[in-house]
Amino acid sequence: MTSDENETIFEEAVEVLRANDRGIYTVPTEGLYPFQWNWDSCLTALGQSHYDERRAWTEIETLFAHQWPDGMVPHIVFHVASDGYFPGAGVWATNRPVPTSGITQPPVAGFAVKRLFMRARNKALAAQHAKSLVLKIDAWHHWFHANRDPHGEGLVAILHPWESGRDNSVDWDAALERVPTEGVEPYTRRDTQHADPAHRPTKAQYDRYLWLVQHFRGLGWNNARLHDASPFRVVDPGFNAMLIRSSADLADVADAIGEHRIAADNRARAEEGRAALDELWSDRHRQYLCLDRVAGELVDNASIGGLLPIFAGLDTGRAAELAATIERQVEAVSYGVPSELPTDRRFEAKRYWRGPSWLITNYMIADGLATAGHHAIAERIVDVSLDLIRRSGFAEYYDPLTGEPCGGGRFSWTAAMVIEFLRRQHDA
Ligand code: DGY
Repeated sequence: MTSDENETIFEEAVEVLRANDRGIYTVPTEGLYPFQWNWDSCLTALGQSHYDERRAWTEIETLFAHQWPDGMVPHIVFHVASDGYFPGAGVWATNRPVPTSGITQPPVAGFAVKRLFMRARNKALAAQHAKSLVLKIDAWHHWFHANRDPHGEGLVAILHPWESGRDNSVDWDAALERVPTEGVEPYTRRDTQHADPAHRPTKAQYDRYLWLVQHFRGLGWNNARLHDASPFRVVDPGFNAMLIRSSADLADVADAIGEHRIAADNRARAEEGRAALDELWSDRHRQYLCLDRVAGELVDNASIGGLLPIFAGLDTGRAAELAATIERQVEAVSYGVPSELPTDRRFEAKRYWRGPSWLITNYMIADGLATAGHHAIAERIVDVSLDLIRRSGFAEYYDPLTGEPCGGGRFSWTAAMVIEFLRRQHDA
């Protein structure tokens, strides 16, 4: 790509972010997702930081202004009334001053804040913003360990597929079979009015998503009770990799601003997590697998969740083994990294997290590979990602076989990742 082409793409990406900007938060995309989403916002802030540092800090601060008293940071903040999304605030009924959902999402705030902090041109502004965010992110990390690893296994569980961000991954199929559907209140989906139903989760999956929401609501959203009371408890290596990376990154920022106790706690959490992660390694698949904590078994499925630990920082040997697996996956399709093994019979090229490639996971995987010294494959993933943009625009995700755009259009985090890829030489 010429540098002129790159500049055009950069400008288009900024335009997408500005169009989705609601002043103090950014919607993932018009229509399909009309509120603030947790990990979308943290990743979007990375893109914003390249043209408006102050706005980038605000994005994350707005999210954390809605942190629960127990430390949880919800996956959706319903800043405005809108019936364009289901399930809306009334279904969650979390009784918060500004309505929020009652579950969380992948913790990438610690990672994003370190990036913002290290690359800040305005250091005084950065230190000021980092000060309060570090305390809040630490409280969230503490919440994870207390509530999602209550028996001290070193890794945290998700209690709802929506928490993983990989809503309909094959990884959850067996665990979701244990979730009943009796008693699910009648509902009308909105997502399938904004996006092609063939690109979205199925009704059978939605019924179970809703059952879990009703079940947790019936328990008064009491986080101390939900883990043991949930029929769905899965340890996702990808989710844990993000928590580990965020803990390690938060520790660095905490040290830089003199919060040494927070730094030590988060470094210890990251170390404990890295050690525990090794129990999810599969010699047969040459990657990590999910653990179904209710069944006490590893889930026999090779998804992108098991590649994301490269983002956590692994020892040299494991990193090399995982890099080789990632390379095979990228070579198996035209536009990787696919979210599901393409040779698996359950692979679906266009259905959300059952096959499509996503720029956010490409970004995290490329970052982890580069940090571990696997530069060639990292660069290949960046090139493929930029090819997708030129070919198909700023889509939510892409068919890894044809590169076709899928899901929602003009997507904030896709645009933010493009800005990151184009400006990565500025990274700390
Ligand atoms: C959705 O509604 O598709 C989201 O992934 C849930 O947060």
